[in-house]
Amino acid sequence: MADYKMLIGGRWVEAASGERFTSISPATGEPVGTAPRGGAEDVYRAVREAKRAFEAWRRTDADERGRILLKIAGRLRERSEDLARLLAVESGHYIGKARALVEGTAKVFEFHAGLADKVRGDVIPVPGERISFTRLEPLGVTAHIVPWNYPLFVMARSCAPALALGNTVVVKPSEETPLVTLELARMIQEAGVPDGVFNVVTGYGPEAGAPLASHPDVEGITFTGSVETGRKVMQMAAGHVAKVCLELGGKTPLIVFPDADLGQALEAALQGILSRAGQICIATSRLLLHREVHDRFVDELAERMREVKVGDPLDEETQMGPIVSQRQLDKIVRYVRIGTEEGAKLVAGGRRPDDPALQKGFYYLPTLLAEVDPGMRVAQDEIFGPVLCVIPWEDEGEMIGMANGVRYGLAASIWTRNIKKALRVAGELEAGAVFVNDWIAEYVQAPHGGYKKSGILRENGLECIVNYTRVKNTVVQLGERLEETWFEAPL
Ligand code: NAI
Ligand code: MG
Repeated sequence: MADYKMLIGGRWVEAASGERFTSISPATGEPVGTAPRGGAEDVYRAVREAKRAFEAWRRTDADERGRILLKIAGRLRERSEDLARLLAVESGHYIGKARALVEGTAKVFEFHAGLADKVRGDVIPVPGERISFTRLEPLGVTAHIVPWNYPLFVMARSCAPALALGNTVVVKPSEETPLVTLELARMIQEAGVPDGVFNVVTGYGPEAGAPLASHPDVEGITFTGSVETGRKVMQMAAGHVAKVCLELGGKTPLIVFPDADLGQALEAALQGILSRAGQICIATSRLLLHREVHDRFVDELAERMREVKVGDPLDEETQMGPIVSQRQLDKIVRYVRIGTEEGAKLVAGGRRPDDPALQKGFYYLPTLLAEVDPGMRVAQDEIFGPVLCVIPWEDEGEMIGMANGVRYGLAASIWTRNIKKALRVAGELEAGAVFVNDWIAEYVQAPHGGYKKSGILRENGLECIVNYTRVKNTVVQLGERLEETWFEAPL
């Protein structure tokens, strides 16, 4: 048990109220530690510090900003085991995956370290003897409201480019995962990020997230989480006309044609819903399975699901850890009940594990619901748990209608050996990313984001530059005298 402080203006501080809240381990239901329960006053202080620090940070040479980001990656690697263990204990990632995620977070900082001094504008051929050029300037203070499913990686994917491009940052981590965020904040500070450039205010969404999203000095907001909260954040941003980048989850279809490599498709279907116990925005939570291969595929999948080792995230043998919180577990239990009531057939799981050692944690078994109708709530809503809905199909056109027939559009996965068919279907799908014969693979080099209610703008890749810069056009008139008279001028 440790009592953490939060980082504002380069100092480790308590909340102005003096209050704290407890972070619970989903593996045991026991407290891991406490963090300050930040509120509006703390947010105002953090934004003030970030605004002050912006003046020097935006003038810091871009290559120097890049070098500092590289040092963050170095710190992450030096202390990766400690950080991975805390990530496992506080958020429920099993230890093998937690280590991979710390490495993945280091790679995000490296990518953006390289980006820092490579972002540049254009020279534009306007009429007359003029040079017209653009510069991409930082926005100023940026807010980052982060969820609990990937507290390090998701925070890095927005904070690293914001910092690289000269912005200052205020992070509001999820109330489920404040401690691992504060450990990363310490590494960021130790890497030499100047005081006030990077700040963390811990606390609850309505108490600390809302004043941050509504603050008039916040010029850009990046939010990852639910559609409902994302909509509120966008409304708060409208009050002061701030830029918003939203990533709001999905209901990703994994589409299997009869001519697919069925062995690989099965692995992908298993991994796509059980990785992180299904608590991933791009989890392939709908399996659109052709009737021709349906029965055997479902039988084998159920078999494999029953073999998955669910358990303590610190156990090296564990393949699937717990659900993040009692609240999220209750949501999953509720949805599985709704599914069976609506007529879905429960083929595997659908309950908590029997192991007495797991009763205090928030564990749930890999769950397979078959004969799901595309209109059922379990096929429409994001459950965010290890619950896979199998939807059979026969006609390709109808299947595309099913794939697109949800409010989300984050990603899709297509399995077929016929490349023409794959690309034809990929072109019809409403999704920000389509994976052909591949896992749902997110890499920092490539854009990530959604169609429809899954969000707006893109993170990762060069596409994220627009989130953290604004365009300044400068025009220099070079002639001896102005060519047009006042009333011939274009405006
Ligand atoms: P949430 O969307 O409420 O929380 C995400 C973040 O927003 C947290 O940091 C939270 O403190 C903050 N927040 C909450 N209310 C706020 C407000 N009024 N103003 C500003 N910030 C606020 O998500 P929650 O409750 O943790 O999970 C609910 C569901 O959301 C999940 O079951 C899942 O379906 C979805 N979700 C999607 C994620 C994704 O990766 N797209 C991540 C986490 C949740
Ligand atoms: Mg927790």
